[in-house]
Amino acid sequence: MDESPKVHGSIFFLLKKYVNAEFAAGTWDNLIKLSGAVGEYELTYNYSLQEIGSIVAAASQLTGISHYNIQERFGEYLVPDLFKLYASYLRPEWKTFEVLMHTENVMHGAVRKLNSAANPPVLYVSKVNEKLLIIDYYSQRRMSALAVGIIKGIAKYFGESERINIKPMSDPDAERVQIRVQFL
Ligand code: HEM
Repeated sequence: MDESPKVHGSIFFLLKKYVNAEFAAGTWDNLIKLSGAVGEYELTYNYSLQEIGSIVAAASQLTGISHYNIQERFGEYLVPDLFKLYASYLRPEWKTFEVLMHTENVMHGAVRKLNSAANPPVLYVSKVNEKLLIIDYYSQRRMSALAVGIIKGIAKYFGESERINIKPMSDPDAERVQIRVQFL
């Protein structure tokens, strides 16, 4: 069996939506040509990590934006869509702090249960105190920049961007990265 890391089709679907929203018309087709990726993705399948890596690398080449920033901006962009897809798992009283506290047991847990093809990263979230969370990201996909973007997107969604400081504590391209989320 192929044990190499995979990325779920929903992420490719949202990446295409992001590229179409953010860049000039035709950019997605150019990225697909440049990267040699397939370009069409089903929501119920998953695809090789290399596939998304090559699209992000092509986007970085084409736009001059670093692969880190592309992942981060994409993460920020996809939050409202993710929230729509999994709306029934979000409690109305939750804001950024609570959503982050519940991502592993509720959100990523729901994704794993509902969608056997999806395998979201395990996020160990520690509440240091009422204003500080440490999120321990651990994934062979090495996409902690996307995680930082998703946290920023959640804060933006709740109008809390100004009161949150997000900082990866080590090399963001590593498999394991601690992300510090400080609420001001
Ligand atoms: C709150 C609602 C959330 C939902 C519904 C959600 C859902 C998902 C789904 C469907 C995937 C694709 C999994 C796959 O490729 O098999 C995914 C991946 C991912 N999620 Fe979440 N997620 C949520 C919150 C978060 C948060 C708060 C973070 C970061 C702190 C995060 C970080 C990531 C990352 C980095 C990936 C990419 C795959 C990887 O790095 O291993 N997610 N998520």
